[in-house]
Formats: sequence, C-alpha cells, structure tokens
Amino acid sequence: MKTAVILPAAGLGTRMQRGVPAAPAETTGTSRKQFMLLEGAPILVHTVRKFVASPLITDIAVAVREEEIDWVQEMLAKEGRGLLGALRVVAGGNTRQESVESAFAALDPDTDFVAVHDAVRPFIDLETIRKVIEEAVLSGAAIVGIVPVDTVKQVSGAQAGGAKIRATISRERLVLAQTPQVFKYDILRRAFEAASRDNFAGTDESSLVERLEQVEISVVLGSERNIKITRPSDMDLARLFFEQETARR
Ligand code: C5P
Repeated sequence: MKTAVILPAAGLGTRMQRGVPAAPAETTGTSRKQFMLLEGAPILVHTVRKFVASPLITDIAVAVREEEIDWVQEMLAKEGRGLLGALRVVAGGNTRQESVESAFAALDPDTDFVAVHDAVRPFIDLETIRKVIEEAVLSGAAIVGIVPVDTVKQVSGAQAGGAKIRATISRERLVLAQTPQVFKYDILRRAFEAASRDNFAGTDESSLVERLEQVEISVVLGSERNIKITRPSDMDLARLFFEQETARR
C-alpha cells in the first residue's frame, strides 16, 4: 500500500511578529515558523523525521515557496533516505489549499492514501499517525481532533474587538481539527476538483472533503501536545516538548 504525506510549508507566517530587527529571529518570527530552529534543526526537519520514522508512510511531498525549493531539497535529501518511495519538494501556492493541491499533483497517481499534515506540527506521535491512517483505510477518510476544554461562544462583529455573544455552543458536539488528515487518494482528488469548480476555499482538507456526498469523515482523538507552532510564544512550549521527547527516547 502506498501512503504519501503532504507537508504544506509555504506559508509566510503572518501571525508571527515580523520585522523586529533588534530581537533574534527565533523568538520574533522574523524568520518563518517552519524554518525556525528547534535544537539546531528547522521545525520542518523535525516534522519530516516523524513521518520517515512511520512504517506506514512510503512517500513525502513538501510544498515550499518556489525560491526555496533548491535549498530545502538539499536540506532534506539525507532525511528521506529511510523512505520506500520518494521525498519530493515542490512549489506551493498563495494559500494553504493551493500548496496542498500542488503537492498532491506531484504524487504518483497509484498512491492509495494521502495524509496531509501541517509542517509546523512537529510533535505528532507515531501512534497517532498509525491510528488515523488505519481509520482512513477502514472508512476512506479520517482526521485527528481533540476535544475543546474552553466554553465556545458564537459571536457577531470583529473577533479582535467589538464582538457580541450570540450563542454558546455545546462542547459535547465539538472537536478541534488538527492534522494529520488522511483520505483515500480518489476522495481527495474529487474534493479538490469540486472545490476548484465551485471556487470553494477551506482552511483544511477535511472541509473540502465534507462537501462531497456519501463521504463520512471519522475523527481519531489526538493529543494537545500536537501543537501548531503559530505565534512566537509557541516556541517556548515547543522547546519544552522537544526536551521531554528527547528525554523519553
Ligand atoms: O497558515 P496556517 O497556519 O494554516 O498554515 C498551516 C501550514 O500551511 C503551515 O505549515 C504553512 O507553512 C502552510 N502554508 C502553505 N502555503 C500557504 C500558506 C500556509 O504551505 N500559502
């Protein structure tokens, strides 16, 4: 069975503070989050290592900005040696969806299952990768999610200021979507086709697949350690998690 993982890593990191020259890049985000160093290696490299270590993954496709392809390819060349298939580095797009779609186009068409995982979630564990792939093999589509601990409010008006509460949403019926999100190759192909036909933009691949009729997506419970490194303060937590992972080995 051929199971590829797509790692979108072409984001510009606009939620990190940018352009603060006096402080080091690693803490301010003047460099982008997928390339920030965690104990000497870029976050993308840590994420790639997790999937190379998974016996279920055969191929990896990483989407970066066009001008980064060469040096990222060089950086990842030796990491990909443990794979049965290939590690490819391709040009991403202006949105995450476009980046994933162009990496998808670079996969072998005889790929059976495709996992999509944020390059900036390096703390994914092998057990969760295994569980979500196995569930997708059974049902066709599965994503990792966690249950919210906070009470969730629906608001109107700007989230950043002036929001007014309109409803409280029952926590029992919510999960927070993480990655990996794993789909049968053909399901993801149809989801991309439908999204481009209807001009639909989603913030994850599940939201594209949800629009297909007769496809149900399972949720596999993950861990709150599978953080998406987004803001500068996430790097403090990332360093702690990394130390703990190293100590457990
Ligand atoms: O922006 P967001 O937090 O959703 O980014 C999630 C992942 O998608 C990141 O790894 C980021 O690099 C990637 N991305 C991408 N191409 C874009 C925007 C985001 O590959 N144009």
